[in-house]
Amino acid sequence: MAGLIPQDFIDDLVARADVVEVIGRRIQLKKAGREFKACCPFHDEKTPSFTVSPNKGFYHCFGCGVHGTAIGFLMDFDHMTFVEAIESLASSMGVEVPRNESDKPARRYDELFSLMTQVEKRWQEDLRESQTAVDYLKHRGIDGATAQRYGIGFAPDGWSALLDKFGTSDEAIERLLATGLIIRKDNGGHYDRFRDRVMFPIRDSRGRCIGFGGRIMGDGEPKYLNSPETLLFHKGRELYGLWEARQALRQIDRLVVVEGYMDVVALARHGIDFSVATLGTATTDEHLNRVFRLCDDVTFCFDGDRAGRKAAWRALETTLPHIREGRQVQFAFLPDGHDPDSYVNEFDADAFIKVLDDGLALSDYLIGELASQVDLNTVDGKARLAEFAKPLLQKIPAGVYRDLLMGSLADRVGLSAEKLERSIGQGPRNAGGRSPATRGTTTSLGRRIAAFSGKPSIVRRAITLLLNHPEAGAKLDVEKLEDVGRPGIELLLRLIETVQEDPTITTAGLLERWRHDDEGRHLGKLAAVELPNDEEFDPAAELHDCLDKLALAGRRKRVNLLIEKQRVNTLSDEERAELRQLS
Ligand code: GTP
Ligand code: MN
Repeated sequence: MAGLIPQDFIDDLVARADVVEVIGRRIQLKKAGREFKACCPFHDEKTPSFTVSPNKGFYHCFGCGVHGTAIGFLMDFDHMTFVEAIESLASSMGVEVPRNESDKPARRYDELFSLMTQVEKRWQEDLRESQTAVDYLKHRGIDGATAQRYGIGFAPDGWSALLDKFGTSDEAIERLLATGLIIRKDNGGHYDRFRDRVMFPIRDSRGRCIGFGGRIMGDGEPKYLNSPETLLFHKGRELYGLWEARQALRQIDRLVVVEGYMDVVALARHGIDFSVATLGTATTDEHLNRVFRLCDDVTFCFDGDRAGRKAAWRALETTLPHIREGRQVQFAFLPDGHDPDSYVNEFDADAFIKVLDDGLALSDYLIGELASQVDLNTVDGKARLAEFAKPLLQKIPAGVYRDLLMGSLADRVGLSAEKLERSIGQGPRNAGGRSPATRGTTTSLGRRIAAFSGKPSIVRRAITLLLNHPEAGAKLDVEKLEDVGRPGIELLLRLIETVQEDPTITTAGLLERWRHDDEGRHLGKLAAVELPNDEEFDPAAELHDCLDKLALAGRRKRVNLLIEKQRVNTLSDEERAELRQLS
């Protein structure tokens, strides 16, 4: 049965499922640092050893050893089958499991994606034919190369350009409807959604086009028209330009979140490749999860008008629960009347970077903004500042950052931090009492993995790192592992291949990929290993290190083989040369 549901769909479902919400709806969870804890529902216990990790999308009980993803939990806790669990999860998330007949669903997704690609191409061709559209882009400072990089196109005027070209059968019309490219009329006919607009393809994490934003060229309403919510496209989750940024940069050290398509494209035109835009919605938790999975340094840069400032404040409120040690969040403000697009075009990239560098740290923005609303020269004003800050500080997970912020605020209101803390209250607390940072440093990585499994082989260590930090596998060079020939190396190679093909796959996603695989039985245990969470710990570097060691071991083995051949006089000329090179 499982084969009926497309893997893509399962990957996506698992990546989007909030394991904390799924489990939290069934048992009471308590926040503990970056994880959640509860008494294990699968065995009898008095102190909680059942841990849910939102980052990994995974639960694990240190008492009885059960573990799994959101799907696994539904199967075990609600006694569902695999397919039932997927259906339940999908329905709670408001999506339909795509499967009607035998192999239809996988094909359906493929067909929708393929339609989007064809439409994208078509509109790019149409752009080349439309002098008005080309002139419009030129006038907005966008050159051909940038337009091409972002796949910008043009949907010609008329009611049925797309419909006539692509709607050649009932199934084809159904696909156009399903992707939101055409609209059904009351009388049963159809017409094109996008007409006479410059088209921006919106891509998912794998670069597939999932929707479009279309801008009108003159005045007119609406200025931008987006694809509606479809099977492929969910507006509150996508960030315009993320895929393009990942293509342009080897490593993303910082991201700038802006408001508009044009902002992203204009910045890229000026060589600033690290901006992304929300699609006309406020910044959501899902956006932030996505962004923080890629990098720890995020700057919000919204328009320099009232609406922009309001959006910045809302972004701050949404960001507070995502604050962790090691994450940096800034707010950059443009002069009134400017957005990133107009600013970078009127000045230049350096000027824009300066705006970013002059941005306020989240803490300064928060305190400054609140302080501006009260009179700090009066006792009453100070009390009100503390009062305003209370609900905000309570959203920040307990830890060093919250303490520092509390300290700065205490300075401003002239109270001791303890007094202020008492008046504001505890906020989310670590159930274990220890901060996540100290928990990470108690033992060395090697020992912790070893503790799990007898002898810590390098392969096992690499797999553990990769499962816990799939993103760290992005740049691994697997070629050098070709003839290592150690137990588990095949599995390691397949895991690396998977994370490189699908760079946003989560721990849970990997586990689900291997659910029906013999080797996969052991992966859950390794995914449950707690790796350090401190600054010095660099999973990508550790992984590189493991691979280097494995490659070295592979070379040694080869050398020994060649030496043995030399001893018995069966060494060919090529092998002799190889041996010389290797040793
Ligand atoms: P330009 O005028 O082309 O420079 O666009 P902008 O990005 O400066 O536009 P603005 O700041 O007005 O809007 C920012 C973002 O909000 C856009 O990129 C769209 O995603 C969204 N948006 C703006 N206007 C509309 C609209 O009329 N309808 C919808 N659905 N979204 C809009
Ligand atoms: Mn603009």
